[in-house]
Amino acid sequence: MSTMTINGKLAPLPDDPDALLVDVVRDALDLTGTKLVCGAGVCGACTVLVEGEPAVSCLMPAGSAANRNVTTIEGIGAAKLHPVQKAFMAHDALQCGFCTPGFIVEAAAFHDRWRAAKGTAVPSRDEIGAALSGHLCRCGAYDGIFRAVADACAGRFDGDEFVPPRMEARDKVTGLAKYTVDIHHDGQLEGVILRSPFAHARVSELDLAPARAIPGVSAAISLLGDDRIVRFVGEPIAAVAAGDRKTALAAIAAIKLSSERLPSAIGLDEARKADAPVVFEKSARKKAGDVSEGGGAPASWKGNVRGPSAAFSKKPKKVRSWVNDARAANNPLLVEGIFRTGTQQHACLEPHAAVARFDGDRLTVHVSTQAVFHLMELIAKRYKLGHDKVRVIADHVGGGFGSKAALGVETTTAIELAREAKAPVRIAYDRHEELSVTGYRPARRR
Ligand code: FES
Ligand code: FES
Repeated sequence: MSTMTINGKLAPLPDDPDALLVDVVRDALDLTGTKLVCGAGVCGACTVLVEGEPAVSCLMPAGSAANRNVTTIEGIGAAKLHPVQKAFMAHDALQCGFCTPGFIVEAAAFHDRWRAAKGTAVPSRDEIGAALSGHLCRCGAYDGIFRAVADACAGRFDGDEFVPPRMEARDKVTGLAKYTVDIHHDGQLEGVILRSPFAHARVSELDLAPARAIPGVSAAISLLGDDRIVRFVGEPIAAVAAGDRKTALAAIAAIKLSSERLPSAIGLDEARKADAPVVFEKSARKKAGDVSEGGGAPASWKGNVRGPSAAFSKKPKKVRSWVNDARAANNPLLVEGIFRTGTQQHACLEPHAAVARFDGDRLTVHVSTQAVFHLMELIAKRYKLGHDKVRVIADHVGGGFGSKAALGVETTTAIELAREAKAPVRIAYDRHEELSVTGYRPARRR
C-alpha cells in the first residue's frame, strides 16, 4: 500500500485507481477544510499544496500523491496563524467561508513566494488577481481578499494574533468550520437520488430489487408521486443509501425503470404556444413552482403560462388602462417592447445537503439551510413528530442566496432513507444537481 505525508503525518492511499485526492482527504482522513464544489478544476475550493505547490485535489488521482508531501488548510497556521489568515480575518475577506480555505491555501503559497523574492513590497491588484485567478467566491468577498493579500505581503500581519470582527472567522480561515457536507456520524451512509432523464413521462415500472441486492446498499425508496408522472428532467424518481457514494451510484444504475414518454414542451417559446402540451394539468398545479422562485404566489393559469402573479402585479387592470390612455394620446413617455431575462441560478458553493439521524424517536437533521426553526416546524409537521423530537442544525451555511429556506428533497429523502436504513444518511447534491434542481429564478418574457 502506498502512502503520502499529509500535514506532516503519514497516511495510507487507497488502491482504487479511480480514487481522487479530494475524497481521500475529506472522507478517509476527515480533513474537511478542503471543499468539493465544482469537481472540475474551475473554482479552487479543493486547493491543497503538493510539495508546496497549489493543486486542485478534485482532479488529482490519489495515487499521484504517493511519497509526496501534501498540505491542506488544516496544516496551515495550525500552531500559529499564517499572516494571510490573520489578514483575511481583519479585512473580513469572507462571508459564508466555503471558498475561504481554498483561497487561503493559494494565497499563503503566493505570500511565501512573494516575501522570499520581494520582501515587504506590495503586490499590485493585477498580480494578486493573477495569483488567485483559479478561485471563485460566490459571496463576492473579493475586495476584502485583495486587501488582505496585499497587506499580508506588506508584512502588516506578521505580528501577534488579534480578535477578529467576525466571531466564526478563525474557524473559517483554518478550515475547522463544519458545514453540513462535512458532517460524519459513525455508520453514516451516502444517499443518491435517481432523477428523470425525461422532460415528461409516466413511470410504469419501478423495480428497486436489483439496487437492494447490491452488497453495501441499506435502503432503496420510491420518490414518485401518486400519478407516477415526471414533469421535468431531474425530477426525483427513487433514492438509495449505501456505505459509499460509488456503491450508491451503482445501485441507482441498477434500478429497473420503464416509462411511457409523454409530449413535452422545451423552452419558453415552445411552452407558450397555444397548442403546446400542458405540463401541469389542473389537478397537478399544486406541484408546480417547486423549482422556481415565486412559484407559490397566487396567479391565474392559461395553458403553460402562469401569472402574472398578484404578488408582483397588484393592479393589472389599472395598469392596462394607463397604457391604453397613453397609446391613445401618443404619449412620448410610453415605451413598449418585449423584455426577456435569462434563467438566474443561486449557485451556492456548498450544495444543498442534509444529514439525517434517528436516535430512538428523536430526529437530528443537519441541513444547509437559511431557516433552521422554520424547517424544524415543517419536518415535525410532515413526519408527525413533536417539536421536542426534531432538531435542525446548521452551524455554517456555504451560501444560500434565498434558495435554502424551504424543506427540500435532499432533506426529506435523507430522513426517509435514514428511517428505512436505520442509520444516519447524508445527501449532498453534486454540481449538476445543484445547478438544475435546487430552485432558481426562471427565464421571463414580458
Ligand atoms: S476546483 Fe476542485 S472543487 Fe472546484
Ligand atoms: S465567502 Fe466566498 S463563497 Fe461565500
